[in-house]
Amino acid sequence: GNKNIQAKLVLLGDMGTGKTSMVLRFTKGQFFDFQESTIGAAFFTQVLSLNEATIKFDIWDTAGQERYHSLAPMYYRGAAAAVVVYDITSMDSFERAKKWVIELQRQGNPNLIMFLVGNKVDLEEKRKVGNEEAEQYAKENGLVFLETSAKTAQNVNELFYEIAKRLTKK
Ligand code: GTP
Repeated sequence: GNKNIQAKLVLLGDMGTGKTSMVLRFTKGQFFDFQESTIGAAFFTQVLSLNEATIKFDIWDTAGQERYHSLAPMYYRGAAAAVVVYDITSMDSFERAKKWVIELQRQGNPNLIMFLVGNKVDLEEKRKVGNEEAEQYAKENGLVFLETSAKTAQNVNELFYEIAKRLTKK
């Protein structure tokens, strides 16, 4: 039989790392060079069908600006999966991602599946965060690691498929 799973998913990460762009790429196949900064949070849904199950994602795309930080627990509470996003051209955004990981480890749902995503791989010539460095950090912290580009769509569907697959195994 085919299972139906509804799962709350939250995206966290510094402003401008591409959280909204990644969700828009996945849910609508769209990308905007001038994507507006999110205020508070935005909500999206998307259904993904795998052989073993159909997953309905309730996606909370949070605002990365520091002034919205205190709202974040409302969005990660009860989440089945969290995607922490940084921008591979910004070491600051990688440092911010590590802070999100610590917060989720301390205050998130203990069964939370955590993904670390380095976005904007299309900007390889401006890369500041090494692939190996991030992979090593992810390994040490039990995170699933991927590099993506919302702009070119590289690895974006793969990310959500990977989340869905892991949710069906819970
Ligand atoms: P906040 O809402 O402020 O937290 O930002 P965000 O993380 O949602 O980032 P957003 O999706 O708004 O993207 C910020 C900027 O980066 C926009 O100008 C996007 O066009 C651009 N951008 C997002 N993803 C990519 C990518 O993969 N490659 C490139 N080159 N630009 C990207």
